[in-house]
Amino acid sequence: MRRLLVTGAAGFIGSNFVQYWLEAHRDDHVVALDVLTYAGNLSSLDPVLKNSKLKFVKMDILEGERVRALMEREQIDTIVHFAAESHVDRSIHGPDPFLETNIRGTHELLKAAKTVWLTGGGSGPYQFHHISTDEVFGTLAADAPAFTEETSYAPNSPYAATKAASDHLVRAYHHTYGLPVTTSNCSNNYGPYQFPEKLIPLAIVRALEGKPIPVYGDGLQSRDWLYVRDHCRGIDRILEKGRVGETYNLGGGAERKNIDVIKMLCSKFNAMFQSDAGLRSRFPRCPAADGGDTASLITFVRDRPGHDRRYAVDAMKATLETGYGPAESFETGLGKTIVWYIANEPWWRSVMDGSYKEWMKQHYSG
Ligand code: NAD
Ligand code: TYD
Repeated sequence: MRRLLVTGAAGFIGSNFVQYWLEAHRDDHVVALDVLTYAGNLSSLDPVLKNSKLKFVKMDILEGERVRALMEREQIDTIVHFAAESHVDRSIHGPDPFLETNIRGTHELLKAAKTVWLTGGGSGPYQFHHISTDEVFGTLAADAPAFTEETSYAPNSPYAATKAASDHLVRAYHHTYGLPVTTSNCSNNYGPYQFPEKLIPLAIVRALEGKPIPVYGDGLQSRDWLYVRDHCRGIDRILEKGRVGETYNLGGGAERKNIDVIKMLCSKFNAMFQSDAGLRSRFPRCPAADGGDTASLITFVRDRPGHDRRYAVDAMKATLETGYGPAESFETGLGKTIVWYIANEPWWRSVMDGSYKEWMKQHYSG
């Protein structure tokens, strides 16, 4: 039986992970920590908030002393560290919070774990699992092989640079102090509860509202897409089978160009609206509501500065060592995601509050 501390638990992947874990490991205790930035929403934990094995704590990982006391009080033996500033575009506009949370926050957490676990007199076993990204490896040429765990770090955005720095700190705490750590570097996630500033939920929400769907540059950049539940299973496999001190790449084996992602999404909308009168009356502004083509909303906009052209992940190490493998194809995962957003309109409306509207106004003209 584990006693987990999950940081960033009210964010996109964190909330999916907490829900997954409580289902898959019914005897475990989970302390869900989150400071609730614009990206953190307690409503994302609604389905499990009444579960007696879960405790939610509003706390900033930058407050290391409070985190240390919490770990002692709750006898935490496992940390799964998601908390971060995570949006590349925001890191370009204002990098400072990224340095604070992603670098200094991770360091506060490492210090707390070191104090409690290595000098606290408990017996363990302990595990600090750090959630990172494939973006630390930089960009790939069109014909280059996918990132492996041996690929050199070459982060290009302020976000990626801060995640790279946090990975190095995690590694150093293992190498220098013997802190039992594992790290996973994952590709782009999508699925329920993703904040509608990232490509897929942004496109879904804007299609439902009949607003332009912004595609950066020529739209030929590609990403490797992983359904969030498969990411959660992958983290579980690493907690179970991963070797201490190792890093594991996790990917979906679903590399797609951005424009193809959006076109697939639009054609799914067209088909769903054609066969469902209820959808047509709930979302009358979507072009498909009166027989039009949702793809008519696609609008090419100015490219992101320093935009990485291509990410692709080789997850063979995780597969061989831990049995990792995604269950969803991109087609099935995208379908489930669209269905979830249609069924959970109150969730996305509630998170698109004043600060979201302000960001959208500044960032996208029109
Ligand atoms: P998110 O932005 O949806 O959620 C981040 C959460 O962290 C929010 O709930 C926020 O309130 C919380 N948080 C931020 N600063 C905090 C602080 N100082 N103290 C406590 N909580 C704080 O992000 P996400 O997409 O769920 O990503 C989670 C992790 O996974 C991040 O570390 C990210 O780098 C990594 N990752 C994400 C993806 C992806 O595609 N989304 C891919 C690979 C890796
Ligand atoms: P995003 O979801 O922000 O993830 P990341 O930058 O971490 O990969 O973006 C995914 C891809 O989609 C990326 O190449 C940028 C592109 N993109 C758009 O074309 N339009 C948009 O409005 C957004 C948010 C992203």
